[in-house]
Amino acid sequence: MKFFVDTAILSEIEELNDYGLLDGVTTNPSLIAKSGRDFKEVIAEICAVVSGPVSAEVAAMDAAGMMAEGDRLARIADNVVIKLPLTLDGLKACRHFTAKGVKTNVTLCFSANQALLAAKAGATFISPFVGRLDDLNLDGMALIRDIRTIYDNFGYGTNILAASIRSANHVKEAALAGADVATIPAAVIKGLASHTLTDKGLDQFAKDWAATGQSIL
Ligand code: E4P
Repeated sequence: MKFFVDTAILSEIEELNDYGLLDGVTTNPSLIAKSGRDFKEVIAEICAVVSGPVSAEVAAMDAAGMMAEGDRLARIADNVVIKLPLTLDGLKACRHFTAKGVKTNVTLCFSANQALLAAKAGATFISPFVGRLDDLNLDGMALIRDIRTIYDNFGYGTNILAASIRSANHVKEAALAGADVATIPAAVIKGLASHTLTDKGLDQFAKDWAATGQSIL
């Protein structure tokens, strides 16, 4: 499963990229607002650091506006992916970009039927929001499983991008459910490496090694 980081904060992206843990980046208008940065500027800076897909979301609500904004965003760098809302207008814009060979990420997906429509529109990525469904006491991961089954039934090439991931358990469950990608907050990605028994074992090894008085170099 590929890992995208869900942030517009460049320092977080650079740190994870240095660890070799990053396959791409997703942003949304809320994350851009949180970064306090100019949208187009920060997308250009992210694309200079990360060679994988970088999602940049349109703000327009109508298809023509989305197409104009998407065209502008696509000019920033070759790895920009145009993020479009799962509305009829968003699907129309998705079809337009797919026909032009521009990659798309159809976002705010909360049902299997919405995901089916995105695949039919030729979306590169579909973003089902796991955490926001869980927030309503619904089963976000069941949606990932349903979409996996539907896409496999018909051989759709749209990549399932598990979004609104909030915990390490979400990451594991998304991998088990067959998501192609998970977009994950930076702190959650870093937390995946932690285990108390790893820390305890390392501490013991360090003490025992020191007692040998040896040096490797
Ligand atoms: C990613 O594309 C989504 O915008 C993001 O994962 C939403 O996460 P949230 O529900 O935690 O805001």
